Amino acid sequence: MWVYEEQIDGKNLTEIINTEHENVKYLPNIKLPHNLVAVPNLREVVEGADIVIFNIPHQFLKNIFKQLDGIDFSKARAISCLKGLNVNKDGVTLLSDYIEQELGLHCGVLSGANLAPEVALEKFSETTVAYPLPKNYYPGDVDEDLLQILFQRTYFHVRTSPDTAGVSIGGALKNVVAIGAGLVEGYGWGDNAKAAIMRRGLMEMVRFGITFFPDCRPETFTVESSGVADLITSCASGRNVRVGREAARTGKHVDVVEKELLNGQSAQGIATMKEVHELLTHRGMTEDFPLLIAIYDICYGDLRIDDLPKVLADGPATQ
Ligand code: 13P
Repeated sequence: MWVYEEQIDGKNLTEIINTEHENVKYLPNIKLPHNLVAVPNLREVVEGADIVIFNIPHQFLKNIFKQLDGIDFSKARAISCLKGLNVNKDGVTLLSDYIEQELGLHCGVLSGANLAPEVALEKFSETTVAYPLPKNYYPGDVDEDLLQILFQRTYFHVRTSPDTAGVSIGGALKNVVAIGAGLVEGYGWGDNAKAAIMRRGLMEMVRFGITFFPDCRPETFTVESSGVADLITSCASGRNVRVGREAARTGKHVDVVEKELLNGQSAQGIATMKEVHELLTHRGMTEDFPLLIAIYDICYGDLRIDDLPKVLADGPATQ
């Protein structure tokens, strides 16, 4: 396991993990298996790997690509557990496709209602894996059955899906919706308001999927762990909802709350709301996604939480 090296009380984090078998900064009070070795050199971990599992905040990917430059990944396969999208003014690509384009490393996705501390404590959860076969597939190569076996546990149930886009977009956009749910909760509104944000958010997640990815299936969002279930768990107690809640409660900016509250971790919805806002503005599509835009405008513009009901009432009738 590659670990970005940090000093904790004068000691390297990798050294602490390898001696105490605990990630004292990011997953405290949970014992890690002894065969999980923390290594600070990324190339050393990845070179020669059969399967590479990506699990980092998605804004660090570009830097990771630079560090992995030149490695031959033709026989390796990857799974992205990243909950984000690669968005710029020209368009949007899935992070799994971005990884494949940049590294020549064939990549599928794993995403679900998987709050890390609960999974680490072996409390029951489900997840969704989408893994299209690579063009250069060979007999005995990794396929979705093998990945299901690899990740499946008695407490961790893996469902497979053919919809890579739907699985990926659910994981990315629920982070933005969770910030919105946190905002209305922290503002003092009740569970009805929070449920309304979740419902409208789900509709916009589906709309985003089918607008930008023609093969994306609406039912992926409504039946899979990577869709509605991840939205529910994230809006209950994830980092994003906590940041939104605290921002509304204290009046502080989300960027400040993220730093104060998360001890070096990040709320991915902050990066994703900016990226999605840039894309939709550039495409002239802001009116089709009133909730995603309103959450951005509350955090970075001058929209007030009080204005949300009016903004949503003016949104597309189908919502
Ligand atoms: P947060 O990033 O909001 O903590 O959500 C975690 C998650 O993705 C749970 O599935």
